[in-house]
Amino acid sequence: MTDRHGFRLTVAQDYAHLIEGTFLDPLFARAARLSTTAGRMGKLIRQVRLPGGLRVHAKYWIPRRASHRIKTLWRRDRIAWETKQYIRFEEASLPVVKFVLSAVRRLPLPRLGVYLTGFIVTRSMEGAPNLLQLLRERRAPWVAGGRDRTGHVLQAVGQMLASVHQRGLVHGDFALKNILYTPGHRDPRYRMVDLASGTQALVSQNGTRHHQYRDLLKMALSIARSGLTQSHALQFLGSYLHAGDSSPEPARGAHDLLELCLSARDHRAREVARRFGGQAH
Ligand SMILES: Nc1ncnc2c1ncn2[C@@H]1O[C@H](COP(=O)(O)OP(=O)(O)O)[C@@H](O)[C@H]1O
Ligand SMILES: [Mg+2]
Repeated sequence: MTDRHGFRLTVAQDYAHLIEGTFLDPLFARAARLSTTAGRMGKLIRQVRLPGGLRVHAKYWIPRRASHRIKTLWRRDRIAWETKQYIRFEEASLPVVKFVLSAVRRLPLPRLGVYLTGFIVTRSMEGAPNLLQLLRERRAPWVAGGRDRTGHVLQAVGQMLASVHQRGLVHGDFALKNILYTPGHRDPRYRMVDLASGTQALVSQNGTRHHQYRDLLKMALSIARSGLTQSHALQFLGSYLHAGDSSPEPARGAHDLLELCLSARDHRAREVARRFGGQAH
């Protein structure tokens, strides 16, 4: 942690050198410009090439209009939260993009007092689009060698979420758009991004279910919205349930789990039920 241009910085160990010299100037310059352009947009995403040649993905938080700020007051510390989550996920050896640094600054605003602004930076995974884009374009990993691989992808996604929950963590916005896929043989091929919405603290072994259902429900909704079917959602849930089993029976329990997710009094549950409503079980 260090102060620079009024920002409080958290830097990953391997990138400590970035706080020396002029590496971060382009990021601070943009953040400073954005601080003065309060608008409706809360975020701005940019791929940036730092002076040393490092390519990064930068997500800036922009001060919102007063009305918006009231709605999201409880999310004031999202940058700090996402930073913590990246560090926890990395410590648990879960596949996430590499966290580089984050910077938070208190910004005095005329009407609502103080607003936290800043940015979070991860290593850019170039050529690694998210699973939603790839599905829309019917590209690998969804289709390979002319064959439909949807089941395999959903299996990998289910196992990925199981490993997150087994380590007592919650993603918070587990959806196809927040999983990147790297083609080729690099391991791991799937990596999670966007850990800012995991509003819960570290989750203990007991009493965790509510938050875990939220991750399950979000992915069920993501599957439903992207035009996949209920049986695909069941494939995801089945591999979540049986991750690590030596003799997996993917179907066992998946229906019950889907019912449980859909019984939540939640607009997402209603939307999933509506979208899957016309389909046979
Ligand atoms: N490190 C990264 N490298 C390449 N692309 C990324 C990286 N992080 C995120 N993305 C892409 O940018 C999109 C938006 O980033 P994300 O952190 O999810 O922001 P938001 O909070 O706006 O959803 C993601 O859906 C993903 O496709
Ligand atoms: Mg996202």
